Amino acid sequence: MSDLRSFLRKYQDETITINEPLSRNFEIAAALKKFDGEKIVFIPEEKETKTSVVGGVCGNRERILKGLETTVDDLYLTLIEATKNPIKCKIGDGPVKEVVKEGNLSDIPILTHFKGDPGPYITSGIVYIKEPGGNLENVSFHRLLVLDSSRMGIRIVPRHLYRMTQSAKEKGLKELDVSISLGLHPAVMLAGSLTAPFGVSEFDVVNNFLGGELKLTRCEHVDALAPSNAEIVLEGKLRLDKTALEGPFVDLSGTFDVRRQQPVVDLVGVMHREDYIYQALLPSGSEHRLLMGLPKEPRIWDYVRGIVPNVRGVNMTVGGMGWLHCVVSFEKFREGDPKNVLMAIFSAHPSLKHAVVVDGDIDPYDMEQVEWAIATRFKGDEDILLVPNVRVSSLDPAGDQEKELGCKVGIDATKPMFKDQEGFKQAEIPMSKELEKILQKYS
Ligand SMILES: Cc1cc2nc3c(=O)[nH]c(=O)nc-3n(C[C@H](O)[C@H](O)[C@H](O)COP(=O)(O)O)c2cc1C
Repeated sequence: MSDLRSFLRKYQDETITINEPLSRNFEIAAALKKFDGEKIVFIPEEKETKTSVVGGVCGNRERILKGLETTVDDLYLTLIEATKNPIKCKIGDGPVKEVVKEGNLSDIPILTHFKGDPGPYITSGIVYIKEPGGNLENVSFHRLLVLDSSRMGIRIVPRHLYRMTQSAKEKGLKELDVSISLGLHPAVMLAGSLTAPFGVSEFDVVNNFLGGELKLTRCEHVDALAPSNAEIVLEGKLRLDKTALEGPFVDLSGTFDVRRQQPVVDLVGVMHREDYIYQALLPSGSEHRLLMGLPKEPRIWDYVRGIVPNVRGVNMTVGGMGWLHCVVSFEKFREGDPKNVLMAIFSAHPSLKHAVVVDGDIDPYDMEQVEWAIATRFKGDEDILLVPNVRVSSLDPAGDQEKELGCKVGIDATKPMFKDQEGFKQAEIPMSKELEKILQKYS
């Protein structure tokens, strides 16, 4: 089964190796920012710990799709199918157990990213949890603030992991065992941001589209599972009786989220490969935004398919922080389709703030084309859908972040059908095969 290393070998030509010993304090974050959305950044020796660090692995859509050996359309169908039919992962040992020790967070090159950060943050960690004595499981990304050499503050938004902590508290439990895995193949990383029905392990969902090849291993210090070919796994006790101040953290928006009391995780063990690579992920960078947004696209695609048959693509845009903006391209058959499509998009992803719908001749992943469609096909007095006082994301600094209330705006940038369609056509320059070859030589 593919792991992070095999993926990095495959994409050497998209990797920048920085042989200077950059520091985990701001310097590696600055390098990730410089090549954001373009290159994978590999630092063979981080200054303080002499450990290898990699970041930006899932930095653009093309690389994620190539890495998964799929296309957008296939990915959506496969993810929908896989979510409905999870397959239990195999259990066994793997390279992550080359070193098993008590561990100390200060020996790990955990990055401090931004001026104003309260400390180093683990940002690419996937948390696995299993209900004690039961069958419910969950897998999700969570940022962890390093509090000292053995304690972390974990941000848990009220979703599935939160629900599991609440029911454990009601049963009188004081702590829950968790594994936090870092250094994974992009397909396995997706498990951290997918949503399966409550209680279903997202590792089993990913295992379906990996053809049953995902192997998990039992942790040595806690009752939890983790990918056997991860680079490093932190084994922890998620405390239900202890909280600490978490934040301020630079979230998807690139602005600071508020500080909150959040649960503490005690580190009780570490498993890692002999020469492990620490996986970094720049908060608010393209990778963060794509990993948040892309797994939401299949559901939007599915909802829109219920309204119009031919959907060209769905783009939870990186500029819209992978969370607040969505563009959908589809074949319009009736003049009234676009507003129904907009309503379907908003229902599929309630955190959304703005959605744009475009005709099938517009590439939804090319924002210059999308803007062109708005400029040439949209009329503000007729083609707008306004939904005031509605639930939006808490991450929108312009909204009421506590009540999660804001205004949704839908933009219909499709051609009006009653007007002569010729006037909306993009002009073309004739191109022969020979001319194409000649021009390719110069690109
Ligand atoms: C890079 C990254 C970091 C994330 N950090 C957090 C976090 O700190 N807390 C949180 O609750 N969700 C976080 N999320 C979102 C959840 O992991 C994601 O919504 C997941 O699908 C939730 O799982 P669930 O549906 O099983 O509850 C993050 C997602 C990504 C991609």
